[in-house]
Amino acid sequence: MPDLDDLREGSRYGVGIPVKNEAFYVKGASNLSWGAKDRMTRIFNRKSGRSVMLAFDHGFIMGPTSGLERIDLTVQPLMPYADCLMCSRGILQTSVPADINKPICLRSDAGTTILTNLNDNVVMDVEAAVNMNASAMAIMLSIGDKENEAKTVANLFHLADVAGKFGIPVMGITAVGKDMQRDARYFGLASRICAENGANLVKTYYCENFANVVSACPVPIVIAGGKKLSELQALDMCYKAINDGAAGVDMGRNVFQSENPVAMLKAVSAVVHDGITPQQGFEMFNDLSNK
Ligand code: R5P
Repeated sequence: MPDLDDLREGSRYGVGIPVKNEAFYVKGASNLSWGAKDRMTRIFNRKSGRSVMLAFDHGFIMGPTSGLERIDLTVQPLMPYADCLMCSRGILQTSVPADINKPICLRSDAGTTILTNLNDNVVMDVEAAVNMNASAMAIMLSIGDKENEAKTVANLFHLADVAGKFGIPVMGITAVGKDMQRDARYFGLASRICAENGANLVKTYYCENFANVVSACPVPIVIAGGKKLSELQALDMCYKAINDGAAGVDMGRNVFQSENPVAMLKAVSAVVHDGITPQQGFEMFNDLSNK
């Protein structure tokens, strides 16, 4: 109960000053709930509007793949330099310090592994994601895969319902089947289908004519890095994707399999947020590596 002795009449009503009514800065998120926007704000930098997400969820289907054998030794040192961490719940609960204070994009589907047929997935309960304070829940869609397409689209559709109730944005990840063309037509179709079925952000791969993929997708797109490239090639891919309108990267192997992962992550971040060229990024990588 406030002290009643000194109750003063208000005088600063700002009559005549219109209330600010600015559009929310994340693509397609203006009509989301306050909670969902707050989570988006944790993921996407307010100034650049972009995000450098560090993906180390690979083990959920691949086991201890190169660079991820010991998360505590190889990935923990990278965490301070990422805007958002993407991992499975098992790694979150065992190997990500709870006081890291980074938004978590939680890998929220499971099912099969690389030893069998991929993508016959189930989805995590949203209460479990709330318990882990997820800022986003990520699941994969196998668009064009006869066996798994319907199941994975249904997973996304369902997750958009339940995560939406809790204000948790959903990321749709476009898996590329062996028979799929890795071109703008396929990634444009798959990304758009993710958004139409409720994804609030999409992770896909960079390709020729990527600007068309981004343009036709009403929510932010971040690119996966894919297999390990040279540092300069990887920075070049980031630069081109950003130039084509990507809202950032969700990158794994090209960071944690680099000769110098911290230097690489810092260089990627400078390309994504500050718009430096691939060559400048590569020089930055070399300078940091030589220190
Ligand atoms: C996506 O489904 C994967 O689990 C990875 O998160 C994704 O492929 C990003 O990692 P990378 O940059 O190594 O491709």
